Amino acid sequence: MNNVDVLVIGAGAAGLMCAIEAGKRGKNVLVLDHANKAGKKILMSGGGRCNFTNLDVSDKNFISNNPHFCKSALSRYTPQDFIALVKEHDIPFHEKTLGQLFCDNKSKDILNMLLKECEAGSVIIELDTTVEVISQESSGQFIVKTAQEGFVCQSLVIASGGLSIPTMGASPFGYKIAAQFGIDVLPTRAGLVPFTAHTQDKETLETLAGISLSCIASCHKKSFREGILFTHRGLSGPAILQLSSYWLPGETVTINFLPDHDLFKLLTVEKRQDQKITVRTFLNQHFPKRMVSAWLDTDVADKNLKTLSDHQLKIIANAFQAWEIKPNGTEGYRTAEVTLGGVNCDAISSKTFEASQVSGLYFIGEVLDVTGWLGGYNFQWAWASGFAAGQVV
Ligand code: FDA
Repeated sequence: MNNVDVLVIGAGAAGLMCAIEAGKRGKNVLVLDHANKAGKKILMSGGGRCNFTNLDVSDKNFISNNPHFCKSALSRYTPQDFIALVKEHDIPFHEKTLGQLFCDNKSKDILNMLLKECEAGSVIIELDTTVEVISQESSGQFIVKTAQEGFVCQSLVIASGGLSIPTMGASPFGYKIAAQFGIDVLPTRAGLVPFTAHTQDKETLETLAGISLSCIASCHKKSFREGILFTHRGLSGPAILQLSSYWLPGETVTINFLPDHDLFKLLTVEKRQDQKITVRTFLNQHFPKRMVSAWLDTDVADKNLKTLSDHQLKIIANAFQAWEIKPNGTEGYRTAEVTLGGVNCDAISSKTFEASQVSGLYFIGEVLDVTGWLGGYNFQWAWASGFAAGQVV
């Protein structure tokens, strides 16, 4: 058996941050991961440029059954703390939109920075390693057996993430360990994920595939004003990904494709100007042509706007400003950026991330029931929770 002070399972964002901080405190830290590379999700994040944090982070940007849980860690490790680290490593970055910070070059810059910091703290990272059994001795120490070796550790940190993108190494490992130690796990589902359409809507949506425009997308709980993208399978784009984390199966989604204007007003003003403009020509000034064709019957689209009653104009306006669709579902974990639900925060200390009933056992990052919005919030949660645990393990 090899002795270590801290054993972290998962060499992702949260696990590496926790290892760095524990290493800085002089702890003997080992990180195990079953993947062949550390930080695979960091590498693929932000379209290859890693949206590593957001300038404006608060508990309002997170979804959890216990909405207060994230506050403490987020206040103790802020976006500015991570930005300071990024600057220390001379990594160029920029704000893209809505406070979202991205690398100028590649996500690899962030991963290399974390690996360098691990090295400075003499953290050992073992990849391609499958953990087979975990048990706790009466002394409180944990025994972790892999296919090749056995380890004894004082602190065991579960940083194995959620279920999204199984091909990148995602696994239910963390939930299984929680269950093994009698810790509650809340039901999980895919978040920040595109919607799929029912067959009857697919035909229309397919003709629009590739079109993106700005919108306000709403379901009963929430609204987001961002971009929407029509796809061959349904709907995507930032507004839809954000909404998907709040949407429940069977709910209707409402979309306003002209968020800055009152389309009914625009139509009635145009009507009173007494021009010979068709509905189609007028709407083509505000929406992509393919969309106008798909949304309106030809006989209406080609009518002179003047000839339509206000009631008919209202119906047209609503079709574009209060369009309703009932998604068939989501694309699921295959393409989801995050997993909603997970280890119940009520069973975890928000200060230390230690399980209340199992001393020495810690859960950090996405494995917990804390899910951020799109825009760098999920990494900030990984950094903040990893940092907090790293101070005490
Ligand atoms: P993470 O998933 O990063 O790490 C878990 C680690 O545990 C992995 O290395 C995995 O191999 C390992 N593991 C799993 N099971 C194991 C087992 N049984 N044994 C050993 N090891 C095991 N967020 C954001 O803020 N900005 C962004 O730009 C993006 N972009 C983005 C793009 C895509 C495509 C995805 C899928 C996700 C994002 N995210 C994001 C979300 C972000 O990547 C995610 O929330 C964090 O990586 C979570 O960090 P964790 O360390 O908790 O898990």
